[in-house]
Amino acid sequence: MAYELLTFDVADRIATITVNRPDKLNALNDALMGELQLAIVEAGERTDVGAVLLTGAGRAFVAGADIAELVGQSAVDGKARAERGQRVFRRFETLPKPTLAAVNGFALGGGCELAMACHMRLASDVAKFGQPEVKLGIVPGFGGSQRLPRLVGKGRAMHLLLTGETIDAAEAYRIGLVNRVVPAAELLPAARALLTTILAQGPLAVAHCIEAVDRGLDMDLDDAIALEASYFGLLSASADKAEGMRAFLDKRPAQFVGR
Ligand code: COA
Repeated sequence: MAYELLTFDVADRIATITVNRPDKLNALNDALMGELQLAIVEAGERTDVGAVLLTGAGRAFVAGADIAELVGQSAVDGKARAERGQRVFRRFETLPKPTLAAVNGFALGGGCELAMACHMRLASDVAKFGQPEVKLGIVPGFGGSQRLPRLVGKGRAMHLLLTGETIDAAEAYRIGLVNRVVPAAELLPAARALLTTILAQGPLAVAHCIEAVDRGLDMDLDDAIALEASYFGLLSASADKAEGMRAFLDKRPAQFVGR
């Protein structure tokens, strides 16, 4: 697939998607949103891809939705644009392969929302985060008002959403918005190392952990742990479970096949 506003490279089973519109700080216009949708579908379908690393070219991860496109939108256009973006981001969140945002710079508005839709976030020490929509007289449209409180808690989310304040990587780590902060030069190597660790685990187990967390968080605890028990039982019938346990008892690394 030929992309114009992002790059898509596969190496060692990791698809690296680099948002590549640096002159506009990688702001998400409709065309870029369309390419992100194609890229995440491609990553999901390709059998040589086991994990996704998402990052940005230049000094931004993504500086938000493209304000130049939002300025003239009607109420109907705005709702449709939000729903479309939400569908694209939900694909990152529900991909049965791990998605990791390597946040290299500004992650504002839709950029922070895109990072939150990934399963994990690593931040460069120069990264900046925020939901500045209130400064523009709007609310987040790509899930920020819902994923932010789920990640950092209601009070901290309210603070960021109501002030539009930008926070640095250290503060993002302190409130639990990112998993780790690393020096800028180490961001991509650290992201690849983390995904390589996950790729060595049972792929069916990884996919079911992702699904259990994603679905379970919005259930009550009894339903959620029932879901967990069903996955625990299901994976007991897998070749990967037999291999993982046999390898442990044989004191050798497991060779998983994803079945
Ligand atoms: N939408 C459209 N264009 C954007 C953009 C966005 N969200 N964010 C940055 N850009 C563009 C700027 O308009 C500028 O384009 P130009 O060179 O053609 O004028 C270019 O990217 C560089 O941005 P600039 O503002 O000059 O860089 P800066 O270092 O002074 O400031 C930011 C960086 C991130 C603080 C600032 O660009 C900003 O506040 N962006 C908007 C963030 C936002 O509100 N996002 C939520 C949108 S819903």
